[in-house]
Amino acid sequence: MKNHKPVSRSGRFASGPAEDVAQFTESISFDRRLWRQDIAGSKAHAKMLSAIGVLTNEEAEAIARGLDEIGQEIAGGQFEWKPELEDVHMNIEAELTRRVPAGAKLHTSRSRNDQVALDMRLWLRDEIDLLAGELKDLQRALVELGQANSAVIIPGYTHLQRAQPVFFAHHLLAYVEMFERDASRLADCRRRTNICPLGSGAIAGSTLPLKRELVARELGFTDEKGRPLLTQNSMDAVSDRDFMVEFCSVAALMAVHISRLAEDVILWASEEFSFIKIADAYTTGSSLMPQKKNPDIAELARGKSGRVVGNLMSLLTLLKGLPMTYNRDLQEDKERVFDTADTVRMTVRILAAMLRHTSVNGSRCRTAAADPQLLATDLADYLVLKGMPFRQAHHVVGEVVALAERKGKPLNKLTLTELRSAYPRFGRDALSTFDLKKAMERRTMIGAPSSSEVSRQLRLWKKQLD
Ligand code: ARG
Repeated sequence: MKNHKPVSRSGRFASGPAEDVAQFTESISFDRRLWRQDIAGSKAHAKMLSAIGVLTNEEAEAIARGLDEIGQEIAGGQFEWKPELEDVHMNIEAELTRRVPAGAKLHTSRSRNDQVALDMRLWLRDEIDLLAGELKDLQRALVELGQANSAVIIPGYTHLQRAQPVFFAHHLLAYVEMFERDASRLADCRRRTNICPLGSGAIAGSTLPLKRELVARELGFTDEKGRPLLTQNSMDAVSDRDFMVEFCSVAALMAVHISRLAEDVILWASEEFSFIKIADAYTTGSSLMPQKKNPDIAELARGKSGRVVGNLMSLLTLLKGLPMTYNRDLQEDKERVFDTADTVRMTVRILAAMLRHTSVNGSRCRTAAADPQLLATDLADYLVLKGMPFRQAHHVVGEVVALAERKGKPLNKLTLTELRSAYPRFGRDALSTFDLKKAMERRTMIGAPSSSEVSRQLRLWKKQLD
């Protein structure tokens, strides 16, 4: 056992925490990244304390100046963080008080419980805005790639088996839709993050007449009409981590979408598919096999989704058994949220860059899309239009496919006589079903992959993402 080493603790305590206790409980190693938010919160709080007469104007100004100086030193890397001061809040406040005596009044009616809730809300609000911007750019990169290859048709897959032809752009736009829903979930999460908890104190507010609205306005916690947004229950405010869970959940779903896109990219870049080529700068080689060019960015994007999903699970598990209100367990929330935000934002950004360095192999796509089996369903639709019930049409075309297989020919090379051996009333026009271009034109309704509908969607997205 290490000896008790006195640190700057006093009052109720005869000594500071033992060194190993300090090491175990510190959060400065990771929560120092909240320094900007912590300083902004303290400046707003000081302004409010002067408005209610707890600080003189001079004291409030000296505090603001002191905090700004500390901020500059932190930004410049000159600030000395002291692990024995546990966290970002105590480090900044202690240093402020050393420089500005009125700093000792700053913590009036404030607890680290509402302070940390505030810092995290401020931090996450900015982070959400940054991520939303990057996500939009990823959508743009997808639309650009679709537009640059708007005539390219590929097989669409179900069960990873060739199903029906689609425009390559249609496939990419499916991801644009997913990311749009992610963006709207993110905006929704931002609404519930953007609420000011300061004034909740440790658990039960304060006996002093704090002006919570002033602090909220100062920190931009306002609605579209400029009205301050305040938490309505002090106990909820210091123990609520819903906004972090929501963020981690939105991010986890986003990471899952990213992972699926990454998987498609990996498949398409394989020799077997060869639908796309990723530029050298966005691939890596093998240390052993000289010929290799690996889609590592996409693989890591897929891989990193695992930790993002894991972070959500950690956070939920962390909260599950906690009694009201603040418990030190909550300190464990930060690294999960930081890691999620960092991972997702970095991944979204690099994927967008990779897509901008990806080209499409038109001839490989053409060959794959020319597979007439992709239009077997169209042949069934042809029979439906002639009045046959779909179940029967499905059966007849199934027989035609089996016949083609037996004859060892592609579906579109069967003769009319052969077709008629499966169903005598096939018309002469039946074989024209296999004209791919015409087949694409038949798919005109909203959401379908005809060239006109896909171009319309590309145009709409381009405009919306500008
Ligand atoms: N570092 C702490 C956290 O992240 C700050 C709040 C500490 N509050 C307390 N009463 N010990 O949660």
